[in-house]
Amino acid sequence: MDKFIIHGGRNLQGVVSVSGAKNASLALMPATILAGGTYKLENTPRLRDVMTMMSLLESMGIAFKFVDNSLTVDSSNITNYEAPYEHVKKMRASIYVLGPLVSRFGFARVSLPGGCAWGPRPVNLHIEGLKKLGADIQLEGGYIVAKARKLKGARILFDISSVGATGNILMAASLAQGATIIENAAMEPEIAALAELLVKMGAHIDGIGTSRIEIEGVGALHPADVTTIPDRIEAGTMLIAAAIAGKPGSKVRIDRCNPKHFGAVTSKLEDAGANLTIGKDFVELEPPNEIRPVNVTTAIYSGFPTDTQAQWIALMSLAKGTSVITDTVYFDRFTHVPELMRLGANITLKENVATVIGQETLTGAKVMSTDLRASASLILAGLAAEGTTEVLRVYHIDRGYEEVEKKLQRLGADIERVAGEEF
Ligand code: EPZ
Repeated sequence: MDKFIIHGGRNLQGVVSVSGAKNASLALMPATILAGGTYKLENTPRLRDVMTMMSLLESMGIAFKFVDNSLTVDSSNITNYEAPYEHVKKMRASIYVLGPLVSRFGFARVSLPGGCAWGPRPVNLHIEGLKKLGADIQLEGGYIVAKARKLKGARILFDISSVGATGNILMAASLAQGATIIENAAMEPEIAALAELLVKMGAHIDGIGTSRIEIEGVGALHPADVTTIPDRIEAGTMLIAAAIAGKPGSKVRIDRCNPKHFGAVTSKLEDAGANLTIGKDFVELEPPNEIRPVNVTTAIYSGFPTDTQAQWIALMSLAKGTSVITDTVYFDRFTHVPELMRLGANITLKENVATVIGQETLTGAKVMSTDLRASASLILAGLAAEGTTEVLRVYHIDRGYEEVEKKLQRLGADIERVAGEEF
């Protein structure tokens, strides 16, 4: 398994472009199940999770051509309606095949996802939503077996706003008979991007981007082409890298992004003392002279994203003062905390609340990646720490960041990937 060796203290400056949004691609790709034919998904990021989704869909008979960031999908010949445990245990987003399969083919057998690095992640909202649309759902030997002659539109209220469940029901309802209304739908841009692809495929959807979505089912859909939206979490991560490691007076520009999708993060960075210039498709950041402590509570979109909580704690580890970071979406998403403490961070964790007492400096050490965003936070801390930081098991970061070390090198970071260390 690869590791990163980072020599901290280098200034970051220059220009970097973000890739397509992982969490959009992971929804757009299974949407091709809904109509046989050829699709072009431009600006698809080359990520481990995208390859995992590709291999799952290939096992169902879907063919891919992936040249640079242009992904051509041929879903004309779907022969298998299953998502086996081997795939689903690697990536929870595999559950996205459930709605499209049962809606178009009347059958799906999808493994329950199991837990992830930071705890259980249930799928009850996906199951209850599909039951409301008339699917017969049985749990058999760790698998969800869904059957339906023809799904029928229904009114569905999600007690918790769920990105994945909203995506699954959106896709299923597009081919159901009659109208579906989703109340308390997720408003994340990746779900709006999925809805926009479905509309291009012939679906009738109102309320895109709002918490109340109305879908009028149609008899059939057709393939369409789409360009994947930029990754708002990668953009935020790169800005925090600039804030934590950039020297006052230098500038980092994040290109090819959509600043409207991460306003919560840019707002908090300004509170922390960074000076931002925000354009239509770029953000330029001048680092703070000293990092001010800023409290954060994560929330559903357009609040501060849970996927940027770990990176924020890294930044606050070097603030002049104490800050409190609360994750209201995942109460146990803090596996990065003990690793950051190995770098000298002073963090006290109580349930889903981290209290961070900012330090003058962090000191390089060997640290272990445990999940995607935790690895990002360790890299950010390593960029600012004195001395050398080794981040182990970087396959976690490769799940969600395309060529992260090359992008950081282009900004002046001293980070290199060392292949294949077993430990
Ligand atoms: C999506 O996961 C993202 N993944 C996650 O990003 C992100 O952290 C999460 O949304 C929250 O924004 C993808 O889009 C592929 P949820 P998802 O359903 O859909 C509870 C990353 O780092 N819940 O919105 O699985 C759940 O436990 C990844 O890129 C239920 O209780 O998240 C959580 O507390 C990590 N029952 C809350 O809802 C359900 O059936 C939000 O989860 C489903 C969810």
